[in-house]
Amino acid sequence: MGCSNNAPSTNENARTNDDARWNIIFVLGSPGGGKGTQCDKIKAKYKIFHYSCGELLRQAVKENNKEAELINKYMKEGKIVPARITCELQKKCMEKNEKEYKAFLCDGFPRNEENLKFFFEVMGKDVKVLCTLFLTCPEDVCIERIQKRGGGRVDDNVETIKKRFKSLKEETVPTVNKLKGYGPVYEIKANQTIDEVFKDIDEKLKDLLTTK
Ligand code: C5P
Ligand code: MG
Repeated sequence: MGCSNNAPSTNENARTNDDARWNIIFVLGSPGGGKGTQCDKIKAKYKIFHYSCGELLRQAVKENNKEAELINKYMKEGKIVPARITCELQKKCMEKNEKEYKAFLCDGFPRNEENLKFFFEVMGKDVKVLCTLFLTCPEDVCIERIQKRGGGRVDDNVETIKKRFKSLKEETVPTVNKLKGYGPVYEIKANQTIDEVFKDIDEKLKDLLTTK
């Protein structure tokens, strides 16, 4: 792979492994592709802790984290926040929940190569990548969905959404290709009903995770 010395080896038939400290499922995809919605459905069925990197960043801004100003600036621009910040937030979140959970649904990460490289540097060798879910959906459908969802996010305006799509194509897609070296990558067509999308996801996860 050549990304990091700490990178785990490929494991096509990965299952939750009690020897690994953190078993990870990465969830990536188009803005408005339904990552959050599908993660809610996954965690309702399976024993897995879900966190969204976008939410962790928004929370850090609300709590006036020392990096709040920088985070907000990046998010407003639809840009990827430096990985040292995102990875620290994720590590804290997993440490807080690792007594109860062995598996973590890592939503919105890794968005670029820097995210990926830093992740294994910060988390060490105790990580096992179970798989990556990549939710794809046409840009016009996503823009319509985002405009309907409301919620007042600083990055949910058409101008920023277009920048987020640019970042998806230029940075995230090549990273998803790299993730194939860490475990299976499943591309899921997100332009279907919520239940249809979940059915496709569930097909991939049923042999990887323990149900509740
Ligand atoms: O995943 P979500 O669409 O909620 O992410 C919203 C924004 O949060 C991204 O456009 C980006 O600015 C920031 N983000 C980031 N690094 C990540 C995940 C999200 O910088 N790994
Ligand atoms: Mg989200």
